Amino acid sequence: MNDNFALRLDHVSRDFGGLPVLDDLSLTITPGEFVVLVGPSGCGKTTLLNVLSGALAPSSGTVTTQGVLRTVYQHDGLFPWLTVRDNIGLGLRGLTDKEAKARELAELLALIRLEEFAGHYPHQLSGGMRQRVELARALAGRSDILLLDEPFSALDYQTRLRLRRELARLLALRPRTVVFVTHDIEEAAQLADRVLVLSERPAQVKTELLLTTPRPRDLTDPSVVEAMGRIIHDLGLAESDFELREKNLGE
Ligand SMILES: Nc1ncnc2c1ncn2[C@@H]1O[C@H](COP(=O)(O)OP(=O)(O)O)[C@@H](O)[C@H]1O
Ligand SMILES: [Mg+2]
Repeated sequence: MNDNFALRLDHVSRDFGGLPVLDDLSLTITPGEFVVLVGPSGCGKTTLLNVLSGALAPSSGTVTTQGVLRTVYQHDGLFPWLTVRDNIGLGLRGLTDKEAKARELAELLALIRLEEFAGHYPHQLSGGMRQRVELARALAGRSDILLLDEPFSALDYQTRLRLRRELARLLALRPRTVVFVTHDIEEAAQLADRVLVLSERPAQVKTELLLTTPRPRDLTDPSVVEAMGRIIHDLGLAESDFELREKNLGE
């Protein structure tokens, strides 16, 4: 068996009170890979991420992780009573050397360009700034794997565009294995090494798409445009898919 993996699911199923959400799902994610999971709302993306993180036990099958894992959620995960500095510091709890910790904190604040906001509280920041703090916390210390559940979906469009670029930049400086959940097709095409298009619940991998152009990728980059077309088609959202469905309904 190939041991070169960061995360592995073997025949994983999970149901909630008889409702099958994951059904016999197998998946291998290699170290350093940026995998994006795209799928319709309610198909089981968050459930899959929670099973990967260990927060949720599978009903059957096995989950194997090699490395330290950090998770970033869609909704504000910062502690409102802690400053930016202390929120990021939570990611550095394992570091006992005070000087090393201070150095690492300073570097992370510089990475996300929020040095001047170190003493601010989350409510004093914009949504985009808060997500940057979350990214810094997730990148702090010795984590190997980042699990991100729609981390930008609550932000406005321009901020989302900026943060995609920011994430690509941060990962170039601090490489990680990434599993990124989104329903945003653009995000998937701009960020992924591999896009897994999921089916309706119970989530199955419908199609898989590889991208090799370096990040950051412009929205108008031909590889991005082509990938978006493929993903839209694989999700059943292309114009021709609608025509087909209407025709079938009409008969
Ligand atoms: N803790 C839970 N208890 C009961 N049902 C749940 C629970 N978590 C998720 N579900 C159900 O599982 C399905 C998939 O949910 P989720 O994984 O959150 O989907 P997604 O993230 O793709 O939108 C939904 O039908 C949801 O209602
Ligand atoms: Mg979700």
